Amino acid sequence: MLRRITILERRLSHHFSTIFICGIFLTLGMLIFMSFCNMTCEDKMSTALHKDVLEDGELKNSNIRSLIPAKKISTFLIILIMSVPRNKQNRAVIRETWANSLPNNVILKFVIGVGDLAADGKILLNEENDYYKDLLMLQFFNESYTSLTEKLIESFKWIDKNVDFQFLFKGDEDTFVRVSVLLEELKSKPKTRLYWGFFDGRAHIKTKGKWQEKDWFLCDRYLPYAVGGGYVLSSDLVHYVVINSKVLKVYKSEDVSVGTWLGPLDIARVHDPRFNTEFRSRGCFDVYIVTHKQSEKDMRTLHFNLKETGRLCNQEIKYRNSYIYNWKVPPTQCCIRNDSSVP
Ligand SMILES: *[C@@H]1O[C@H](CO)[C@@H](O)[C@H](O)[C@H]1NC(C)=O
Ligand SMILES: *[C@@H]1O[C@H](CO)[C@@H](O)[C@H](O)[C@H]1NC(C)=O
Repeated sequence: MLRRITILERRLSHHFSTIFICGIFLTLGMLIFMSFCNMTCEDKMSTALHKDVLEDGELKNSNIRSLIPAKKISTFLIILIMSVPRNKQNRAVIRETWANSLPNNVILKFVIGVGDLAADGKILLNEENDYYKDLLMLQFFNESYTSLTEKLIESFKWIDKNVDFQFLFKGDEDTFVRVSVLLEELKSKPKTRLYWGFFDGRAHIKTKGKWQEKDWFLCDRYLPYAVGGGYVLSSDLVHYVVINSKVLKVYKSEDVSVGTWLGPLDIARVHDPRFNTEFRSRGCFDVYIVTHKQSEKDMRTLHFNLKETGRLCNQEIKYRNSYIYNWKVPPTQCCIRNDSSVP
């Protein structure tokens, strides 16, 4: 009888110690797991928020911060204008003309690399941004003419991470945009897989000068691309570029690069002659939505015209013919400028 009890006790105590030891390990494991989770989760959050605060200077209340979703900024259309630190005047003209009183579903950002900018230059830009809140300063990008494509990728990365948007418009400092018309048109455009602009499928490979592409071998011409004075991408395509950016070949020309990256995709390439976005302006037509190669004076005139008369041009004028892109023929025959009725 006594022996049995001792055996039972031993067994029980054996079980207890096993359970006890297991319990300790389990608790330790959970503690370690939780501490790791807390570290990474909070760490990421606070870095992201810290960055947001630095980059936008808008978030101040820490109670609100904890309620903010992953992407702080939400908008229908984000407009990127590629700029450089010294071109303050170009930015001023855009703010005073076509970007004056943008609707609240549109965000405009001037993209500027400040990686190697001297301290006093940074101070000036920060002051400008404190006032206008429209600079996207890329901290790790150094401005140079040879890396506009990297700059585009860097800005796409920032937007993909921080902005919840439907469409992106990319333009230059000498691009005049009729934002209200763009918005109206976008209402009836596909929400995804959209690549909208003025397409060229038979552009010769640049072998000389600033834009020469030494490494191009894909074809005798560039793949069809929307010329860089202004084009629209839906957010899924921006995301596609970002997640593949490590393996995408970077070409000198940013617009050629985008066309090439999107080349194999099943997307809507919408050619629109109302995008006067070639490297030389085709003139002025009242139906134009985007007009490239505009001087400060041109921009003010176009803006004044729209305000006073509701029409873009002093007088409609054509410097050379345009074309309707023919997607049914080989690219070399895509773009014949023989129809004078196309604006
Ligand atoms: C940018 O310039 C800074 C300062 O000259 C340099 O340290 C940095 O490596 C450069 N970054 C890139 C990406 O070239
Ligand atoms: C322009 O050229 C194309 C191809 O040669 C032809 O099919 C089309 O009819 C021409 N259009 C005009 C308006 O001449």
